[in-house]
Amino acid sequence: MRMAVVGAGIVGLATGAGFADLGHSVQCVDIDTGKIAQLSRGIIPYHEPGLEAVVVRNVSAGRLTFGHEPSRVLQEAELVFLTVGTPSGDTGEMSLAALWSVIDRFEAWSASETRRIIVIKSTVPVGTAERAEARLRNRLPEHCLVDVVSIPEFMREGCAVRDFFEPTRIVIGSANSEATEKLTQLHQRLPGPIVATDRRSAELAKLAANACLAVKISFANEIAALAEQTGADYPSVAHSMGLDPRIGPHFLSAGLGFGGSCLPKDARALVRMADEAGAPQTLVEAAVRANAMLPLRMVRKLEAALSDPARRKVTLLGLAFKPGTDDMREAPSLRLIAELNRRHPGITITAYDPEANAVARKLLPSTVTVCDSAEEALNGADAAIVVTEWREFRQIKADDFKNWMNRPIIMDGRNALDAAALNAQGVVCIGVGRLPVV
Ligand code: UGA
Repeated sequence: MRMAVVGAGIVGLATGAGFADLGHSVQCVDIDTGKIAQLSRGIIPYHEPGLEAVVVRNVSAGRLTFGHEPSRVLQEAELVFLTVGTPSGDTGEMSLAALWSVIDRFEAWSASETRRIIVIKSTVPVGTAERAEARLRNRLPEHCLVDVVSIPEFMREGCAVRDFFEPTRIVIGSANSEATEKLTQLHQRLPGPIVATDRRSAELAKLAANACLAVKISFANEIAALAEQTGADYPSVAHSMGLDPRIGPHFLSAGLGFGGSCLPKDARALVRMADEAGAPQTLVEAAVRANAMLPLRMVRKLEAALSDPARRKVTLLGLAFKPGTDDMREAPSLRLIAELNRRHPGITITAYDPEANAVARKLLPSTVTVCDSAEEALNGADAAIVVTEWREFRQIKADDFKNWMNRPIIMDGRNALDAAALNAQGVVCIGVGRLPVV
């Protein structure tokens, strides 16, 4: 099948390369000409494990091509995936500007050609697919028959390729049975269960899934705070809870909370949409608020462990919003740095991330020194905060912390290190939801 993907972010690229790998002919389009030029040379502008290999082998096989002009894609492809960004600001309003700009550029195709299907994969407010279809039908000549379908994307950054080939589910929200049938056939080679539903349910299923994950994480963090206050050990509590299949073990890790380009903005967007619809989402709203408090909570814990932080050097281990990516969008590290600077003007902050250093150097204030190794960042530090649970940090030995740092105090913001072993060897390691060792 001839396909196009508009929006060459991680989701778009993994989708395009994935379908090309299944034998389809795919053109990946983005208005960012610099990005397209890089991709055409086989350079992937993201740290996304496995993506480069799938892209390169499909470009070499001639099944995957790149372009920067979305207007003609409907003339050349019978199926178009839209994977453009839908950012939301602090008010929660999701911006559909990129989506409408693409939809409004699509030009008519010839009368002799078949019906087209546009699949919205971007996360959007409920009702967007219907609005998009009406907008296109209004503008295009009558012979241009088009169905707009919602197939929300559930892939995670850092696992995008695996999630494409092994999806947890494929939700097809459509108002046209022929389109549903075509898309069901297309996805049948992938192992996930297919849920055929209407467009509004598909759109809400995506927002609700991300909001549910956000609520679960904030619940974990609040119970962890209670564990700290009552002398319980949160990782053990989480393990016990997670063994109940009705609760499940995933997304129960307490720490610095959820970040990234999806969970925070989708939760805010759901809250906003729900308020407008007259069905307030009080739990999701509380989860967003609880999450925003976590960096400050960490700074308060640091203050309890380290006197006069304004005159000290503190190292952040990890800057990306989670391991496996160089993405720092809405990363807890950003809020943590802001809180450290706000409460302790003059504090010295160094940082190191195995993948996000280049992004960090463009993004962080000049008061933060981004270092090329954990050793360099920790050199002479009075305390360190584990912000992202990269495996590399688990390999730092107690003796290294003691030799490199001025005082070996580690605030483990992700419960990533072996606190008991470090504490036994003279490193103060304070986790989340755990009793500090005295
Ligand atoms: C999330 C969803 O998991 C995907 O299913 C969805 O497709 C994607 O958003 C999207 O909407 O595009 P992603 O943003 O890549 O994927 O990140 P997650 O792996 O969900 O992690 C989100 C945040 O939660 C991270 O900051 C992570 O550190 C945090 N987290 C995760 C916790 O604090 N505790 C946990 O137990 C798990």
